[in-house]
Amino acid sequence: QQDPPYVFVIFGASGDLARKKIYPTLWWLYRDDLLPKNVHFVGYARSDLTMEKIRDSFEKNAKVRDNEKDKFEAFLKQNTYIQGSYDKVESFKKLQEFNDDLQKRTKQPVNRLYYLALPPSVFAEVTQHLKEACMDYGDSWTRIIIEKPFGTDSDSSAELSKHLSSLFKEDQIYRIDHYLGKEMVQNLMTLRFGNRLFGPSWNRDHIASVVITFKEDFGTAGRAGYFDTSGIIRDVMQNHLMQVLTLLAMEKPVSLNAEDIRDEKVKVLKSMPPVELKDVIVGQYVANPDSAHPEAKAGYLDDKDVPNDSVTPTYCMAVLKVNNERWDGVPFIMKCGKGLDEKKSEVRIQFREVPGDIYAPGELKRTELVIRVAPNEAVYLKLMTKKPGMDFGVEESELDLSYNSRYHGVRLPDAYERLFLEVFMGSQINFVRSDELEHAWRVFTPLLQQLEKEKVKPVQYKFGGRGPVEADELSRKFGYIFTGTYKWKSPNKL
Ligand code: BG6
Repeated sequence: QQDPPYVFVIFGASGDLARKKIYPTLWWLYRDDLLPKNVHFVGYARSDLTMEKIRDSFEKNAKVRDNEKDKFEAFLKQNTYIQGSYDKVESFKKLQEFNDDLQKRTKQPVNRLYYLALPPSVFAEVTQHLKEACMDYGDSWTRIIIEKPFGTDSDSSAELSKHLSSLFKEDQIYRIDHYLGKEMVQNLMTLRFGNRLFGPSWNRDHIASVVITFKEDFGTAGRAGYFDTSGIIRDVMQNHLMQVLTLLAMEKPVSLNAEDIRDEKVKVLKSMPPVELKDVIVGQYVANPDSAHPEAKAGYLDDKDVPNDSVTPTYCMAVLKVNNERWDGVPFIMKCGKGLDEKKSEVRIQFREVPGDIYAPGELKRTELVIRVAPNEAVYLKLMTKKPGMDFGVEESELDLSYNSRYHGVRLPDAYERLFLEVFMGSQINFVRSDELEHAWRVFTPLLQQLEKEKVKPVQYKFGGRGPVEADELSRKFGYIFTGTYKWKSPNKL
């Protein structure tokens, strides 16, 4: 008997995400023989397209090497394009015919993955039609993959969840947060629960603050139309950074089972009060004539797709609290922004001072554990050590696990590759459950509403700089100490 057939359908096949991420990712998985043998890909969109045109749209992003050309052609042969509307169920019947035909040819039930890379405006009708016309007959499975935005606040998100749960079971719904597919984000649990060293000190008695940073050195990069309706809090903080926070703060799950892990994440979220405006700095970048970056010439408000009086933040620092026994009083400082001085995302855990200090005042600096998500994945522990040699003094140094040197040559798959594969495998560990979403929105909705209702003016910061200085003051107020005496050096550059 042949391998069972699978169909991976890309709704929104003509869109930006399909071109940049979805098609290239499917190709890499196919190239590396990671997908089931009998897999078919169907692009679905309203536009009058052909597979040729779709190929042209993503081939550059797929980075096909010379010796892979034949395999790439084989991959394309597994692809089909269906032109269809989103609002008429008849169009969806064409898709079901494709599935039925495949079923007939292979004499086996077809497993279906429907990837919805669609604007929110058509989301409800597409899912409705899928349910009516394109489900399996009970002898195989259907899984729905969805992209953010999952609503814009608590109410709209609840409405979306209600709609989805009226059509599909939770174990069929795969809400993507691509941060959960990143190597170092996946490593957080291993570092915490695989090392006796960290467990006993992972709490308010030893940790002074946790800083979760996301910085980009580019602006809205042609996406200002979307971005202005979203803002950095919805775009990055409420989802990506919140996921990182829950993995850092959660108790040890009973097992590595998806529900056990997600239960613990939800418990953390439930312990979090809504963020308050007084603990937040919002910023918006302005032009910087001194920068050579092509986007620096125009500020956010100069973009033709942004209204002149927009108060949408392109930067935010927010101090969050987890009011449980482990974390009471420890600030979780989230910092994210576009148009900054560098591209970097990392977690920095700052430990408390050594009690009963026997060194000269000010000599000892706080120990920090840094988990660098991107670029250059690394985990390093900044600590005090004796100055090497005849010296008796102390200095700051590090225990450094830099992936570039320790795992030189090991290919780290893209976040989307991992996540797609997990959908095929039916693992929901790295997908967002509806109650996680509900509580993440509960934490941010009052802030978002206040910012919008009161039209709170963001602080201006220059494109390419460190962001608003007010943010440094806020993190200092919450006890984060920046001494500026230490800079991590990437060992591969030494
Ligand atoms: C996306 C946001 O979810 O994440 C983008 O919409 C952002 O604005 C991107 O640039 C960052 O992802 P990564 O993987 O480059 O850190």
